[in-house]
Amino acid sequence: MVPNKFDLKSYLKERAQKIEKTLERYFPSEKNYAKRVISAGKYSVFAGGKRIRPILCLAGCEVVGGEWEKILLFAAGIECIHTYSLIHDDLPCMDDDDFRRGKPSCHKAFDEATAILAGDGLQALAFYFFTHPELVKNIKKTRLLKAIHFISKVIGFEGMVGGQMVDLLMEGKKGSLKVIKWIHLNKTTKLIEASVVSGALLGGGTFKELKALSFYGKNLGYAFQIIDDLLDILGDEKELGKKTFSDIKKQKLTYPKLIGIEKTKELAKKYTEKAILALTSFKEKGIPLKSIAEFLLNRVY
Ligand code: IPE
Ligand code: IPE
Ligand code: MG
Ligand code: MG
Ligand code: MG
Repeated sequence: MVPNKFDLKSYLKERAQKIEKTLERYFPSEKNYAKRVISAGKYSVFAGGKRIRPILCLAGCEVVGGEWEKILLFAAGIECIHTYSLIHDDLPCMDDDDFRRGKPSCHKAFDEATAILAGDGLQALAFYFFTHPELVKNIKKTRLLKAIHFISKVIGFEGMVGGQMVDLLMEGKKGSLKVIKWIHLNKTTKLIEASVVSGALLGGGTFKELKALSFYGKNLGYAFQIIDDLLDILGDEKELGKKTFSDIKKQKLTYPKLIGIEKTKELAKKYTEKAILALTSFKEKGIPLKSIAEFLLNRVY
């Protein structure tokens, strides 16, 4: 049930808190000789962040009539994967960014080797969560397997890792609209799409519902990375929690570079509108997902 007057701010806060509680509860404790790497993983996970991917996962479950509280461990796993990708993305050999989520990046607070290992550990932790007995007992096994299979694909060679590779290869190159769209699709969009679709899969969604949510997630994901690129130029470092003009320094291939700021803003709006249109069949149940799309379009962090 979606209340008549939907309050997105408290919705996002409540969901983020539940995700954080789950992460706290199941995160390994900082003990024994490996304490340092566990601390580094914890440092980055609990540094803040919008928690938008796990929130989308819970919302995907809810919109198809599933019980979102039952899939919190799955959503928490998605946040671990996302945080791992940020730790590695900031490394000197990648984007070389010293600030993240308003704090020194993992490799700055610790060191490079520890940051690489913390990222690796978080990726593994995600699969530990995805297969955790406390989650497994709540969900149809075939659906859970499908969701894990889907996430595994979109974060690897045929998704995020591939996208990150081409993002780096295109530094300083001329590029084209075709290449930038491919990079965005792989490094960012696919995980965002999979977050909402996996939630719906676990929540018992029908083929038709999954299709609509896949369309929503894809368009939302494109809009998300386009806005991230805009914020690199137009954002405020304090609000963003990361340095601006990092893409320019690294000569990244971005939409603002290819088509200018105004056309890029229009493009983000177009993708957001398409995402919202995909929710039509959900009627008022689609309000949270619609509000999230509007919020992400107008975000300043
Ligand atoms: C940043 O993601 C990386 C991109 C894919 C653009 P977010 O903007 O979701 O970062 P957090 O999780 O809120 O810190
Ligand atoms: C990051 O894209 C994408 C992934 C981490 C997969 P960016 O490099 O643009 O993200 P920020 O701007 O550093 O957050
Ligand atoms: Mg990057
Ligand atoms: Mg980066
Ligand atoms: Mg960026």
